[in-house]
Amino acid sequence: MPRFSKYFTRKGIIDMNLKGRHFLKLLDFTPEEIGGLLDLAADLKAKKKAGIPHRLCEGKNIALIFEKTSTRTRCAFEVAAADLGMHPVYLDPNGSQIGRKESIADTAHVLGRMFDGIEYRGFGQDIVEELAKYAGVPVFNGLTNEFHPTQILADFLTVREHFGSLAGQKLVYMGDARYNMGNSLMVGAAKMGMDFVACAPEKYFPSKALRKTCAAIAGETGASLAFETDPKTAVRGADVIYTDVWVSMGEPSEIWEERIRDLLPYQVNAKIMKAAGPGCRFMHCLPAFHDLGTEIGREIHNRFGLSALEVTDDVFSGPASIVFDEAENRMHTIKAVLAASMG
Ligand code: CP
Repeated sequence: MPRFSKYFTRKGIIDMNLKGRHFLKLLDFTPEEIGGLLDLAADLKAKKKAGIPHRLCEGKNIALIFEKTSTRTRCAFEVAAADLGMHPVYLDPNGSQIGRKESIADTAHVLGRMFDGIEYRGFGQDIVEELAKYAGVPVFNGLTNEFHPTQILADFLTVREHFGSLAGQKLVYMGDARYNMGNSLMVGAAKMGMDFVACAPEKYFPSKALRKTCAAIAGETGASLAFETDPKTAVRGADVIYTDVWVSMGEPSEIWEERIRDLLPYQVNAKIMKAAGPGCRFMHCLPAFHDLGTEIGREIHNRFGLSALEVTDDVFSGPASIVFDEAENRMHTIKAVLAASMG
């Protein structure tokens, strides 16, 4: 593969070639490429803070397809695109023909003729992979049922900022680890040599197939993967405790009762944080149910009498929480992905 040294940063030259590459899942990237994207994101973050322009994609256009709602991912793509000198066009969940009147392949052909890149948030990973197959321009995964790779870049930049490195850090994911967040954190941790623990009842562990794939990666990077049903055992010595909502986008609301019954013992609360140790940080991709400030939170309170779900408010709003650093880093890391691929 040709190599080029395009980015000159305070830490030195970032030597990687991701020009024209899709960003669909972390499995497609080497640890060096992931590390390079994090270095580039840190550099672009420093430039943004210093008011130094970085219009690396001047005059380009990007389509942002959102078949599901979003605050962070949409805003991160829009602000990143604008900072890079690009024009973003947002297609909302009802604002296009995609999948209803027009096939994914035809949509990809059409958008690929007009745009220099396409972001997709929606349903199956197969959809974003199909878009990538036919678009002829880079395609970026803004969340599918299976993977949320841009979130992991933000998470890992945040871990690096707080701990100085990724390798050897112990990250415990509490709760339903079968979908995009549990899967993507496990893949990312395996790639970057971290100690990953999924903690939940067994039926909420990632699939056997993905665990096997990640175990093979871990064998090469020095990462460790563990699957634990006892919360106190899982969090002992954790550097980071991570959780996410218990009902994912698109799942029916009737599922709440079962999820609460199964996952309440895995709620991140003061006891869990204490069991982890004093240096442990709390992370969450957001949005979170930690108080009664949301319509769904109040509905859950009325139905089940709970004022918090996956994380209690004292942890979410407490000194160990780095969730808003993490949210900000969505923008800097997405910007790095766009600049590396489209710049
Ligand atoms: N974490 C995340 O993807 O947030 P949004 O759903 O608001 O984009």
